Amino acid sequence: MGHLVGGRVVSDFRSDTVTRPSPAMREAMARAEVGDDVFEDDPTVQALEARAAALFGKEAGLFLPSGTMANLVALLVHARPGEEVLVEERSHTYNNEAGGAAAVAHVLTRTLPSARGRLDPDAVRRASRPGNLHNPRTALLVVENTHNFWGGAVVPLEAARALFEVTREVVVALHLDGARIFNACAATGVAPADWGATADTVTFCLSKGLGAPVGSVLVGPRAWIARARGARKMLGGGLRQVGVLAAAGLVALDEGPPGLARDHALARALARGLAAVPGALVDVDACETNILFLRTVAGPASYGPLVEALQARGVLAVALGELGVRFVTHRDVDEGDVERALAALRELIPARAVEARA
Ligand SMILES: Cc1ncc(COP(=O)(O)O)c(C=O)c1O
Repeated sequence: MGHLVGGRVVSDFRSDTVTRPSPAMREAMARAEVGDDVFEDDPTVQALEARAAALFGKEAGLFLPSGTMANLVALLVHARPGEEVLVEERSHTYNNEAGGAAAVAHVLTRTLPSARGRLDPDAVRRASRPGNLHNPRTALLVVENTHNFWGGAVVPLEAARALFEVTREVVVALHLDGARIFNACAATGVAPADWGATADTVTFCLSKGLGAPVGSVLVGPRAWIARARGARKMLGGGLRQVGVLAAAGLVALDEGPPGLARDHALARALARGLAAVPGALVDVDACETNILFLRTVAGPASYGPLVEALQARGVLAVALGELGVRFVTHRDVDEGDVERALAALRELIPARAVEARA
């Protein structure tokens, strides 16, 4: 399958964000009924927001340009400057949102370790503080599911519920960074509303596995979403005839979820194939959804050059330091792309392992 990058047909495993809009999305975008969404009169945006809220069992939704902005809006609305936000140490919010928590929301982030993204409820209880003359108040816990830098690991429903219960006891809000929550749904059979019941607010991305070109939705209580609308405006995210994008999002909600099991099977096939390559270090069982981290005996210093050598063979992936080389499957890759990646890696990894030993 592959797609065109820089005039070349490549097998693009860099991220599930690289997908191109489907014909049905382009059609829906062309036909979308629109209005000025800052005046709240874009019917397509409203349809998307209402559908998203209903899916997650929440009162209201807010369409945003990106998951990063959605998470930042969540921080701004849940926590006041100087308050504390508990985050998992490998979380996207902490590591990959350009420091917005500090630079824009002015919150104190406190990292907690986890077992593959699964935080310990007792650790959350111990870390939470009501605030006093000396200590900041803990306002928020962010849970990421599926967890990107834990290789797409699912935080199981019971674990998510246990975290939610602890936050009720210690009076801390819980925001679910569900950028890939539909992958968790596909992997477990748990419905979006059941995940929604484990959080006060949820972000999910239309532009990842669901295949839309742009957009995320934040869902939560109506009054909270009204405040989030103000925070979005402050960040410059109040968009006008944005129904042209929401239209693609609505198609993504129809087309996307049924295809995710296929994406997961492709990631597994890649993991299984790699497990048989000398020098490759891959945990097949840890590959639960659409993300796979490849490590090799040659170690982190070799990952950048490995990615360059792959690129020369038309296979794109991302080197992420100690975590390894990340491969993400999505609707624009197929078995042929997996075979192409495996063929290249079978050739490249043993050679690099030998170089490393020399
Ligand atoms: C877990 C997680 N949260 C949030 C985001 C941010 O989404 P966006 O790229 O739309 O800003 C990402 C993007 O990769 C992500 O993986």
